[in-house]
Amino acid sequence: MSSNNVILVTGGTGLVGQAIKHVIETEPEGSRFAKLPGEKWIFASSSEGDLRDPVQTRQLYEKYKPTHVIHLAALVGGLFKNMKYKLTFLRDNLLINDNVLEAAHESGTTKVISCLSTCYPLDENKIHTGPPHQSNFGYAHAKRMVDVQNHAYKEQFGHNFTSAIPTNVFGPHDNFDLEDSHVIPGLIHKCYLAKKNSTPFVVAGTGKPLRQFIFSRDLAKLFIWMLRSYDDVEPVILSVGEDEEVSIKEVADAIVNALDFKGDYTFDTTRADGQFRKPASNKKLLTLMNGFEFTPFTEALDLTAKWFLENYDTARTGAAGKKAAAQ
Ligand SMILES: NC(=O)c1ccc[n+]([C@@H]2O[C@H](COP(=O)([O-])OP(=O)(O)OC[C@H]3O[C@@H](n4cnc5c(N)ncnc54)[C@H](OP(=O)(O)O)[C@@H]3O)[C@@H](O)[C@H]2O)c1
Repeated sequence: MSSNNVILVTGGTGLVGQAIKHVIETEPEGSRFAKLPGEKWIFASSSEGDLRDPVQTRQLYEKYKPTHVIHLAALVGGLFKNMKYKLTFLRDNLLINDNVLEAAHESGTTKVISCLSTCYPLDENKIHTGPPHQSNFGYAHAKRMVDVQNHAYKEQFGHNFTSAIPTNVFGPHDNFDLEDSHVIPGLIHKCYLAKKNSTPFVVAGTGKPLRQFIFSRDLAKLFIWMLRSYDDVEPVILSVGEDEEVSIKEVADAIVNALDFKGDYTFDTTRADGQFRKPASNKKLLTLMNGFEFTPFTEALDLTAKWFLENYDTARTGAAGKKAAAQ
């Protein structure tokens, strides 16, 4: 890559965007994930432009003239919000993705990496096989369409637009909202409140389902690798291996340890478990990268819990969290 590239990260204030910012700011010179001399990185928030609006999207491109875009901006939510607002998840994400790709096309941006999701059966060849899970079909269909658009832009215009498929991401700057978060930040917040208020720490479900979790700062490095070294339209799954699945009980145990919680700790088995497994293969990634060392799960979880404790006042904790903390 030449040294005067401008890389625009949409959704730059979110969990993944902030992790890329961290890696770009801290990775030592010479590392394959380091910032290159002269390179300019922009981490855009929604306040700089609502990407559902084509005019504001075009203005953002005119302002920064990006040569490369890592497109992370999306309406993202937990299970409850996805189930309740299916049309909003479908439309907002379709609009955001269409505007970001079309503005890149119009302004001659060389490369765009977008983000798909793991809401459907997975290896890289199965993105369009079978319907997505009913609970989030709005979000999942919008994500699938990005791959369709990438292929269409490539076939009609020869563009270098591609996509990444991260599995369950966690890390600093996550959304710790009690009612609308993913499992790790939700449980960290719950355990924090149980300790603070001397109440039991109750985990929904049996604790048996298994998931592949990826630390946001590892994921950030994988995005930087894709930016520099991956020029194919087909998506790549960015994940730890299928043999590194962790159960929800292991997650909860690690949180109890990280927060040094000594109170009552139980599983509410009357609550639904969700899918037992959602395995995703990282074979393609590891072959292309010639190996990658992931941060051990408990180390990444400790770091995330520590970040949450240190940044409680500014973290995304939601209205219910603030109320419970004030008890
Ligand atoms: N988290 C996961 O486990 C996971 C798994 C698979 C895929 N992904 C994908 O990874 C990407 C990043 O996810 P994340 O977890 O980092 O999300 P996040 O923390 O919720 O951040 C979302 C980002 O999108 C921006 N955004 C939302 N609506 C926007 C709009 N209308 N206009 C402009 N910007 C807007 C937000 O900006 P403001 O905060 O400034 O409003 C924020 O920077 C998303 O595409 C998501 O679908 C995430």
